[in-house]
Amino acid sequence: MKAAVYTKYGSPEVIQIVDTEKPSPKPNEVLVKIKVSSATRADTMIRQGTPKFGRLFLGLFKPKNTALGTGFSGVVEAIGSQITKFKVGNEVFGEKLFSNGCNAEYICIAEDMVIENKPTKISHQEAAPICDGFLTSYNFLKDIANIKEGQNILINGASGSLGSAAVQLAKILGAKVTGVCSAKNVSFVESIGADEVVDYKNEDFTNTQNKYDIIYDSVGTLSFKSCKNVLTQKGIFMTPVLSFGILWHSIVNSKKVKFAATGLKKTKDLKRLFLDLVDFFEQGKLYTNIDKSYKLSDIAQAHHYLETGRKVGNIVIINP
Ligand SMILES: NC(=O)c1ccc[n+]([C@@H]2O[C@H](COP(=O)([O-])OP(=O)(O)OC[C@H]3O[C@@H](n4cnc5c(N)ncnc54)[C@H](OP(=O)(O)O)[C@@H]3O)[C@@H](O)[C@H]2O)c1
Repeated sequence: MKAAVYTKYGSPEVIQIVDTEKPSPKPNEVLVKIKVSSATRADTMIRQGTPKFGRLFLGLFKPKNTALGTGFSGVVEAIGSQITKFKVGNEVFGEKLFSNGCNAEYICIAEDMVIENKPTKISHQEAAPICDGFLTSYNFLKDIANIKEGQNILINGASGSLGSAAVQLAKILGAKVTGVCSAKNVSFVESIGADEVVDYKNEDFTNTQNKYDIIYDSVGTLSFKSCKNVLTQKGIFMTPVLSFGILWHSIVNSKKVKFAATGLKKTKDLKRLFLDLVDFFEQGKLYTNIDKSYKLSDIAQAHHYLETGRKVGNIVIINP
């Protein structure tokens, strides 16, 4: 089968498409023929080995795990002897967490990992990236912020994968949402439910009288210090993007500043959140925006585009 791999850290050109053995499911695994996989900002950082301290986990001098891609959607082609939940032919989706390997034609994944039947309402394209933006932002909104109906949330980077997911999820959870994006994306952010939209190139939301219970900086371009004045007394600042500043504040100011790597959460907690998302999609309450799609052979181009930091929603890799 074809699979995208990278054997050294570096630019998108380190990615190679190789022929590798098609995996066989263990007794507790299903073999999925991947129709669509995701390509994400997090994948580009793993490929680059940045931030450098991440190499303590990824491999000091070269990647320990050479496979790429965490999100998938496809069809069960074979099942192990202990599988009870899935049948051959089921349409499934999910993520492989840090074991990666979804930018390929097939994967094997254990039945008790992050995998569910794909909601019938959505396509493989819409399903494959759900574990990037939606699962990450849902963890922040529900488990970290414990967002309540009527709270004011400001979402920075509201047009990205995590941001556009957060806007929709915060609305479902009853919050009043202010999305921050540039002028070209204002109508998109309004269309997914934001109550207010701030164009960050023309307005500075930190310089107003508005107060927010939660500021979610989904793209990591803000600092806690710059946002302090527009947080309510019990307000929190949270971001999925790690920096030394965030690390420092999340230790010394742990009630106000929050960071988390969602992939490190216990699988049972991820599955709990994932099942809620399946339900929301089944009810037609959420929408995955696909900015661009690429063939597996063109995945380096997808990574170049991801690195521009300009994508609107998600990028997917489509298998023939
Ligand atoms: N901690 C975790 O568990 C976790 C999990 C997944 C991802 N992540 C991280 O989350 C981050 C966000 O990823 P993503 O895929 O959602 O987005 P992204 O590709 O990083 O951001 C794209 C969007 O951000 C907007 N943007 C760029 N600069 C901005 C600014 N200064 N202010 C407001 N908006 C701005 C862009 O719109 P314009 O073109 O209009 O500026 C674009 O629509 C990445 O760093 C990723 O590695 C963390």
